[in-house]
Amino acid sequence: MSIGLKEPVAGLAPGDPTQALGPSAAAGYRPRQRARMRLDGKTAIVTGGASGIGRATAEALAEAGAFVVLGDIAAEAGEGAAAGIRGQGCRADFVHVDVTDPESIDAFRREVRARSLHVDIVANVAGWGRIQPFVENTSDFWRQVVDLNLMGPIAVTRAFLDGMMERRSGKIVTVASDAGRVGSLGETVYSAAKGGAIAFTKALARELAAFNINVNCVCPGPTDTPLLAAVPEKHREAFVRVTPMRRLAKPAEIADAVLFFASGESDFITGQVLSVSGGLTMVG
Ligand SMILES: NC(=O)c1ccc[n+]([C@@H]2O[C@H](COP(=O)([O-])OP(=O)(O)OC[C@H]3O[C@@H](n4cnc5c(N)ncnc54)[C@H](O)[C@@H]3O)[C@@H](O)[C@H]2O)c1
Repeated sequence: MSIGLKEPVAGLAPGDPTQALGPSAAAGYRPRQRARMRLDGKTAIVTGGASGIGRATAEALAEAGAFVVLGDIAAEAGEGAAAGIRGQGCRADFVHVDVTDPESIDAFRREVRARSLHVDIVANVAGWGRIQPFVENTSDFWRQVVDLNLMGPIAVTRAFLDGMMERRSGKIVTVASDAGRVGSLGETVYSAAKGGAIAFTKALARELAAFNINVNCVCPGPTDTPLLAAVPEKHREAFVRVTPMRRLAKPAEIADAVLFFASGESDFITGQVLSVSGGLTMVG
């Protein structure tokens, strides 16, 4: 006999522990949550939208009702990702941008403005790193990693801030990394850049709170994307071994956290850093 239920619920096996919670619990957590986190009437920018976590983020935000502009340096993949979203009956467009190039960001902003779009949500997802001992890094590599992972989010955020401040409403979400919270062996400068993105998030959150703009950070642990596929197999296996949940994250699981920070459900949360890593890092 299930607690609180006199009659079995149709469609559930006898003795199903979710019976006590009713049919919606058995139907699954994710669809119910997505139904709440709606972004109808909103416009979102997603950098790095052509691949991996950025693409999954664009899909999640569009599925929640937003018009999504995917910005990426990879034009063909970006166009394909936007077309895939439209194929699902959602709204998306691709605009080329190199987030390390101020002129390209300016052109990106003008292109978005030319479409008469007010940007409500900026998701900074574009990023990159490579595992290599610090002493073998070149100074060109340092600059590339810092330009992309730290200066990119700073410059893209700045480009779309004026409209948000005028409207006194907005959401800025940056995908950093657990590397930026706890350090990662062989990713020294990447960790520094991501740590900078986390500090940028916290400081900007203080400045923009008066404008009703939320600024938050999502820190993925090892996630199954093309970026991670470039990492040697032995490293990927080690990542799984040290993760309490014993697997890599799926891009959609990171996207769900970005969706939360982009939605009204997080209106009173700002300057926060959410690790989505299967328990890999637990820092108080
Ligand atoms: N995959 C992981 O294990 C992992 C873990 C922690 C953090 N992250 C972070 O998540 C984010 C997404 O990574 P991913 O794993 O999905 O990688 P990915 O390589 O699949 O996607 C990155 C996207 O960024 C784009 N990009 C690269 N340089 C750009 C530039 N200059 N301008 C515009 N776009 C550019 C690429 O074209 C690509 O589409 C990155 O910021 C990464 O640092 C990833």
